[in-house]
Amino acid sequence: MAIQKVGVIGCGLMGSGIAQVSAAAGFPTVVREVSANALEKGMGSIKKFLDGGIAKGKVTQADADKLLANLSGTVELKDLADCDLVVEAATENLGLKKELFGALDSLLKPGAIIGSNTSSLSITELATFTKRPERVIGLHFFNPVPLMKLVEIVKTIRTTPDVVADANAWCMAIGKTAVNCGDSTGFVVNRLLVPYMLDAIRVFEQGLASRDDIDNAMKLGCGYPMGPLFLTDYVGLDTTYYISEIMFDEFKEPRFSAPPLLKRMVLAGLHGRKSGRGFYDWSTNPPS
Ligand code: 3HC
Repeated sequence: MAIQKVGVIGCGLMGSGIAQVSAAAGFPTVVREVSANALEKGMGSIKKFLDGGIAKGKVTQADADKLLANLSGTVELKDLADCDLVVEAATENLGLKKELFGALDSLLKPGAIIGSNTSSLSITELATFTKRPERVIGLHFFNPVPLMKLVEIVKTIRTTPDVVADANAWCMAIGKTAVNCGDSTGFVVNRLLVPYMLDAIRVFEQGLASRDDIDNAMKLGCGYPMGPLFLTDYVGLDTTYYISEIMFDEFKEPRFSAPPLLKRMVLAGLHGRKSGRGFYDWSTNPPS
């Protein structure tokens, strides 16, 4: 496999998890954030996860030390110059990504691969921001990244087979199971998951059942680890709303349209776990 050194753009919820699993698998990994504060916060969440793992007996101190030795943080894009793979996990903003992809294209060596963790933007469009569209690929991880086994590998019409093969080999090396798919908005998981979450909100909005009954119905009736309203809080109502807008715009199907309640909750700042309140109150443990 050609991938030896890995860069990650963004050390938020997803970027920190991607950097963590890459470093844990022995890849020298450098993660870039826009500010020292944001970097510190992201690195802090990795250390917190490792401490939790040690306390649970799931991670040894030696493994944690090895992981941290493979991981470095920076606020400078140029520190990613010698990476073989850069995974972009920045905010879902097309303008920002356009700028980033252009800068990465100029910075990275010709053979390097640029991957994006975008959940809903078109990989084909992101690839047009570079002069190496054949070396751009989607690498969509799931939250929480260290625990969720899946990566969706998204190839465009332009991505070459060697890039797909290297991406698959890297995902296997970091202990993930890859699902390969084409570049269609939402890929496989969000194509199925987002309408389900939106429908759960519609059921709640229409007063068919209470929050807890809806969540228990899917947990106890279908064996899902989280109910749909809890999961929406977990993913973020703002993120869910944003993805639904992009999917609706792409497919023009009502099942992708955001229920009015979701829009209002987002407007009101009830973004779920990240804001402390959504369908649940996250200031209590467990959320109530
Ligand atoms: N270090 C190491 N291992 C840890 C750990 C840590 N800090 N914390 C937990 N673990 C391990 C536990 O020991 C346990 O291992 P085991 O199965 O061998 O016993 C396992 O991880 C599960 O941990 P917990 O028992 O503490 O937690 P739960 O059983 O409650 O599971 C969960 C938590 C895995 C998050 C589960 O609730 C789940 O799968 N939820 C669904 C999440 C989901 O659907 N995510 C996808 C969202 S969609 C998305 O991301 C796409 C985006 O584009 C929208």
